[in-house]
Amino acid sequence: MSNPKPALTDTPVAEATADVVIVGTVQGGDGVELAPGADTVDAAFEGGLLDVLSSLGASGKADEVVKLPTLGKLRAPVVLAVGLGRPGDTGTVAPEQVRRASGAAARALSGTKRALSTLSEQDLQAAVEGSVLGAYAFTEYKSEAGDAPLGKIDFVGAATKENRATLKAATAIAEAVTTARDLVNTPPNDLFPASFAERARKLGEAAGLEVEVLDEKALRKGGYGGILGVGGGSSRLPRLVRLRYKGSKATKKVALVGKGITFDTGGISIKPAPNMDHMTGDMGGAAAVVAAVVLAAKLKYPLEVTATVPMAENMPSGEAYRPGDVLTIYGGKTVEVLNTDAEGRLILADALVRAAEDEPDYIIDTATLTGAQTVALGNRTAGVMGTDEFRDRVAEIARATGEGGWAMPLPEELRADLDSRLADLANVTGHRFGGMLSAGLFLREFVAEDVPWAHIDVAGPAFNTGSPWGYTSKGGTGVPVRTIAAVLADIAANG
Ligand code: BES
Ligand code: ZN
Ligand code: MN
Repeated sequence: MSNPKPALTDTPVAEATADVVIVGTVQGGDGVELAPGADTVDAAFEGGLLDVLSSLGASGKADEVVKLPTLGKLRAPVVLAVGLGRPGDTGTVAPEQVRRASGAAARALSGTKRALSTLSEQDLQAAVEGSVLGAYAFTEYKSEAGDAPLGKIDFVGAATKENRATLKAATAIAEAVTTARDLVNTPPNDLFPASFAERARKLGEAAGLEVEVLDEKALRKGGYGGILGVGGGSSRLPRLVRLRYKGSKATKKVALVGKGITFDTGGISIKPAPNMDHMTGDMGGAAAVVAAVVLAAKLKYPLEVTATVPMAENMPSGEAYRPGDVLTIYGGKTVEVLNTDAEGRLILADALVRAAEDEPDYIIDTATLTGAQTVALGNRTAGVMGTDEFRDRVAEIARATGEGGWAMPLPEELRADLDSRLADLANVTGHRFGGMLSAGLFLREFVAEDVPWAHIDVAGPAFNTGSPWGYTSKGGTGVPVRTIAAVLADIAANG
């Protein structure tokens, strides 16, 4: 979908040409207060903006939007006041609060051509990201055009070198998130392994990446038993896509791996009907790593980043794999399939082994892997597992981006529950305890030893089944694109 065009402006707010001026409000100890950046608008209101807002019932709480006419006090006809919520302990508003408020404002402005945001005075990057993401709408399949999303958004700020660089990076990051959202939101009758692979190829080629697509024949020749096993039940056969960005001053190699199940029926271990449609989002991890490697090229990170993306549709049919089958994963390990609905780990196993052949310095995989993730952490906090140090680093960065993530253990005592009667490993334990963790333990068997590794389970966070909030739309959220981007930036800066 098309994104609004962000730009910087240092025209005085009162004189700026715009349909709406966005200001922030915060929830203070004694009621609503104006956020930094609102002062210029307040001056045009002769210091009376806060009184007007409180008389309209504004409280400053997050996601609250209050609009008022300017009656000639500003050149723009409307002011939109958006709540940032409560400031933190130090009295300051966090970047994520600015991001969410910018998103809520942009959502409330569909149908508006041009807005001017003063939220950039608190945090330009967060304001840009939140605005672009909040304005996102996926209307590809609507036969009637509704309100167009917010068309253009200006941010108060001087066009300094630093601000221009921030604007450019924030816009690219937000656009990568919308790329991932578009992929997730495309329905499974149109986004299946071959079509997904072609879209990934086009995105990769446009960004100047090396692209390799293995079709079912190449997968058979290569011995990718996990991907072929899972994908065998569908008439739309699986793919493995590899996208490589080689930065000119690359200091480290990072391998990204993302689960690309274009639809997950559960296979022969079929899922119940209610909410099965949510499984259109079961390629959220794949979408995120495709978008992230393209972004790495756009932002010219001094890294080599390779995304290895297995794509398959998990369907029941006469050719589907069965509970009881033994699959041989790429590299030779065998897995007894006890539940065909634990399919993600099987395609990831192939991809993780393949990814390690490039001898990466870090491996990051992400997947809508387990319902247990949502039971443990809810819909907005990803579970992060892996090698201790890197896991903690990734979880901390996930929180700093506002996407949210929490370090989770890989308890050794659960490992024996994955032992198989006849193969090297079974794909599920015989119980439902620690389901997110046993999936992580399964993946660990396929991760190269001594390579720092993080596994990000985004079963809940990648797909919003509820109402829009902050900058998060319904359906695909694009999580964890910004976390991966921030981890790559951190590796580029600190090794
Ligand atoms: N794609 C699902 C996990 C999922 C569930 C993602 C809900 C998003 C929302 C995955 O393939 C799956 O079916 N996992 C099973 C594993 C079980 C069979 C061990 C699950 O979580 O029930
Ligand atoms: Zn799945
Ligand atoms: Mn499944």
